[in-house]
Amino acid sequence: MRALRLAVVPGDGIGVETTSEAVRVLDALRAAGALDLLITAFPWGAEHFLATGETVPEGAFERLSLDFDAVLVGAFGDPRVPDNRHAREILLGMRTGMDLYVNQRPVKCLHDSLCPLKGRSAADVDFVVFRENTEGAYLGLGGAVRPGTPEELAVEEDLTTRRGVARICRYALGFAERLARPARLGRRPRVLMADKHNVQRFGGELWRRVFFEVAGEFPGCDAAHMFVDALAQQMVRDPASLDVVVTNNLFGDILTDLGAALQGGLGMAASGNIHPGRTSVFEPVHGSAPSIAGKGLANPFGSILTAAMLLRETGHSAAADSVESAVAACVAAGETTPDVGGRLSTSEAGVAVVRRLDVSG
Ligand code: NAD
Ligand code: IPM
Ligand code: MN
Repeated sequence: MRALRLAVVPGDGIGVETTSEAVRVLDALRAAGALDLLITAFPWGAEHFLATGETVPEGAFERLSLDFDAVLVGAFGDPRVPDNRHAREILLGMRTGMDLYVNQRPVKCLHDSLCPLKGRSAADVDFVVFRENTEGAYLGLGGAVRPGTPEELAVEEDLTTRRGVARICRYALGFAERLARPARLGRRPRVLMADKHNVQRFGGELWRRVFFEVAGEFPGCDAAHMFVDALAQQMVRDPASLDVVVTNNLFGDILTDLGAALQGGLGMAASGNIHPGRTSVFEPVHGSAPSIAGKGLANPFGSILTAAMLLRETGHSAAADSVESAVAACVAAGETTPDVGGRLSTSEAGVAVVRRLDVSG
């Protein structure tokens, strides 16, 4: 098989530390002959921005798409860039610039010890959130008038297109149908669309209509609607009832931090920014966590599981399986960072995963 050409952008804060452990695991797969890999690192982030004034070079996203099979990123955010300009231009820039319209965020709890819900076990927490990733409240459309005065006024636009809603709904429904096909689920998959069309009468109403239209193409799925506030409580009260959730950009952002908590915390959660058939960008759900950066406290498992997702999406499913199993084995053995109850440092946790990699299959 041709080498996997991987671009790595660690970014800021703990992004640097967690990405380095994900790369350690990928390197171990390469050393074991389980993966042919070519890695190129890019320095984009707060440090680079402060030193050079550049967020990303002209044409960078086109080059990523042309020269690489996938991109692994860490996190962006630094107190020295209070308006977060570099994060918007790099991270949101990739999502919109590379048209990565699917933000796939699995919510899967790997061990009972990580499940925060009373009376529930890890088996109850296993669903996927599909977040629309290129429109909604994330386009920076709006403006402010008379800032700093008592008459101050701000407008923040939330943009929804039929094409945007249809394509993310189609992807989520297609994913759900594939879930059911090898009888992995043992029943018809349930796809829930979450919006707030009782208040957001225009964008919300478009979501509701288009979701059910598209659902008509997927007779193997049970399509249902839930208001996003009700879904938030359902995620806590009865996560086992959920298979696939599809929602807009902002609601998906919020729900997936709640989803991260159901998996043991932000340090455990993986995600992929995907355009099917194109170079996609994989990043853990967590941010740069400035208060713990540089201390070896960051949990690298979210980033390592993100690398597994990248492997799966690029056709290396055996390697992805071995990484996921190794992380699960570490969690079961208590070989984790303190945020999930263990005593290991960030790099010790990465080494523990490498030790448990089984690349024989
Ligand atoms: P955060 O995810 O960085 O941190 C939230 C809390 O979770 C903190 O208490 C932090 O210590 C903890 N945490 C997060 N990841 C962890 C890990 N791997 N191991 C252990 N603990 C972990 O979110 P925040 O504090 O709201 O944001 C900090 C900065 O990161 C901001 O600039 C924000 O804009 C940015 N951010 C970036 C991304 C991204 O690049 N994908 C995502 C979220 C936030
Ligand atoms: C995420 C983050 C980003 C988002 C921020 C850093 C712009 O919270 O990836 O979840 O809101 O999408
Ligand atoms: Mn977020």
